Formats: sequence, C-alpha cells, structure tokens
Amino acid sequence: MKRVAVFTSGGDAPGMNACIRAVVRGGLHYGLEMFGIIRGYNGMIKGDIIPLNSQSVSNIVQRGGTILKSARSKEFMTPEGRKKGYDQLKAHGIDGLIAIGGNGTFTGAEIFFNEFQIPTVGAPGTIDNDLYGTDYTIGYDTAVNTALDAIDKIRDTADSHDRIFFIEVMGRDSGYIAVQSGISGGAESILIPEERQTIDDVVSVLKAGFDRKKSSSIVVVAEGDEEGHAAEVAEKIKATIDVPVDIRVTNLGHIQRGGSPTAYDRILSSRLGLGALEGLLNGQKNVMAGIVNDELIYTPFHDTITKKKVINSDLLRMASILR
Ligand code: F6P
Repeated sequence: MKRVAVFTSGGDAPGMNACIRAVVRGGLHYGLEMFGIIRGYNGMIKGDIIPLNSQSVSNIVQRGGTILKSARSKEFMTPEGRKKGYDQLKAHGIDGLIAIGGNGTFTGAEIFFNEFQIPTVGAPGTIDNDLYGTDYTIGYDTAVNTALDAIDKIRDTADSHDRIFFIEVMGRDSGYIAVQSGISGGAESILIPEERQTIDDVVSVLKAGFDRKKSSSIVVVAEGDEEGHAAEVAEKIKATIDVPVDIRVTNLGHIQRGGSPTAYDRILSSRLGLGALEGLLNGQKNVMAGIVNDELIYTPFHDTITKKKVINSDLLRMASILR
C-alpha cells in the first residue's frame, strides 16, 4: 500500500480534525503518500482529491468542524455514482481509504468495498454515539458538554421564573446525548427513543415536583423521541397537566455539532485515527476502528451498521432516583 486517502462524511463532529491529523501524520510516519478527499463521497465522485503533508494538518487538533469538509451524498447511493468514485480513486492511484463518519458513511463504505474491494477502515465520527463497536464516538463528549453548558444556563433562568423548560438535544435515532447531558444537568425527566416514556409519566414527575414546591423543572428531549420534538411534547404536556405551569421550549440544534473538541475527544480522535491507519496497514479492511474498554478493536462495517448499541439502563434508573 502506497497511497491512502482520508475523508469525512455525514454530520460533522468536533474531533474530526484531530482524527484527520492522526491519520495523515501516522501515514507519513510509515512512509505512505497521504491524500484528502474533499466533501466525502461527493468529492470522491468529482475527483476532488488533494495531497496532504504534515503541515496541511498543523494547528487543527483544537479546531471543530472538518478541514476536509463533509456532505451526505445522494449520488454515491447509486451504482453509477460509486463507479465514478472508483474511477477517480484509480486515476489518483489511491489504494487504501480511511472513512471518518457515522452510520450512513459506513453503509456506503461497505457497499463500495463489496463492489470494488478497495481496502477501507473507518473511524467513528458522529456526535450521536450510536455506533456499535466503540464505547464512544468522535465528538460525542464535546456535544454533551456543549449541551450541558446550555442546560446549566437555562436552569438559571428557569429557576428565576419558576418555569418548566423542554430542551431538545440532537440524536436522530439515539438518546445518548440526552441521557448524559440530562443526568449531569439534573434534569427532572429525560425522553429518548430507546425507552418509551408516556406523556402521563412525564406529567406525574412534573406534578410531584410542583407538589414539593419545586420552582423549576428541566425536561431533556432527544430529537428522535417517539412523543415528538420538544415543542410537540411541551404542547401535549400543556394539554394534559392540571396544575398552573409556565412552559418554555429551547432547541439546542447545531451548536452541539460545533466548537473546540474537549481533551477527551482530541485523545479519542487521535487514537482512532492512528488505529484506523495502522489497521489498514496491517491488512484490516471493511471494518471500523473502535475503542471498547480502553482497547482498540476492529468491527466489521456490517455489524456497526446493523447492530444496536444499547444504552446503559442503569443510568436511567439512577436518573429517576436522583431527580
Ligand atoms: O447524525 C448527527 C446529527 O447531528 C443528528 O443528531 C441530527 O439528527 C442530524 O445529524 C442533523 O443533520 P443535518 O445537519 O443534516 O441537519
């Protein structure tokens, strides 16, 4: 293997730059020629592929976003799009790939590998932390801390005005950000897609708080919750609760995807980037590098995209005791 290209794809996540840096510097250390593909699979299809040297990745370990830019590619979902991507990789002499992204990225990578057999190793990059085969994904810790900072601030004003706040955090299909930010922010209730809680359940928690003369309450809602987005949940609660309440809704949105990565995320991203690169050199392919119990492991893309990572239900039990 002589020429390896790295790309970022799907929703960006703080720490992707630290991961790119580790892949590139690792590759140069082992004597490889390193390349970056701009805007994920779209850039592969267009041949937007640039050489990267050690300086190309200097001063980025602390930066959010991704210097390689990111995209969700519709064209790569078609056989014609993937063939164009393959032709571009061949034209640039690329014989190995490092894909940094989430579920959609690895779904594409698996199909591409089965069609064209270009060795590919993934590094899990998504704030959602919803990938099987790693305890934590790149960007998750930073997103949780960003959400927590916002929850703490909202708590101040909620308390001053005796209000109930419904705070929506990201997580299209998963409640990881909601659980960790909710527990650490002392939320009264946490709604996540993985565990059903009815409107009546939430109402009874809020009413119990009201009876105890609790002046403010925070309900953290993961965007993918079955009861709907935070605004819908708030409407349903308003229509059901029979005590006087003053309700506000805040959607934290894309601020959770930006910002300087935490120390934890920088180290995780560096380990995963170098681990992915070293795996590729040691013959790994069609797998994602992950860290489980502090050990680097490789999990087939197929498992990362089809198996469900289970949320620790003991955390939710604890939250219900401590609220
Ligand atoms: O997958 C990461 C994620 O941040 C999800 O939590 C969220 O639903 C989605 O991306 C938002 O994507 P977009 O930036 O395309 O709106």
